[in-house]
Amino acid sequence: MYTAEVMDHFRNPRNVGNMENADGVGQVGNPKCGDIMKIYLKIKDEIIEDVKFETFGCGSAIASSSMATELIKGKSIHEAVTMTNKAVIEALGGLPPVKVHCSVLAEQAVKSALYDYAQKSNKVIKGLENYKPEDDEVHCH
Ligand code: FES
Repeated sequence: MYTAEVMDHFRNPRNVGNMENADGVGQVGNPKCGDIMKIYLKIKDEIIEDVKFETFGCGSAIASSSMATELIKGKSIHEAVTMTNKAVIEALGGLPPVKVHCSVLAEQAVKSALYDYAQKSNKVIKGLENYKPEDDEVHCH
């Protein structure tokens, strides 16, 4: 049911933990399943130098957040904002349909952290112009 990649990122999640003095922090939650995901970004010259996550949630949410942090680490904020949940699923080799929303949580957590960074540093990130913090709730389908 789960790919080897999902199991690997679930068992050995990358970039777990929190971060002091993060430049951007985003937290999203899914009110139905109660899962919560928090992403911390360290950004220098518009590059994501470091990223950490804390996820209280299902195995797919943990694997998705781990993969999402790997996908955006070292990338520019402009590249990171284009990371979709589909990219996370692809990199994981697939997720069961009922677990797709877990990857949406990861995409939204990254966007939420980038939004926080943009707010704090007075920057405009293309793709986040219409982002509203209330988008931070991700609903199960
Ligand atoms: Fe809620 Fe996976 S079941 S994030």
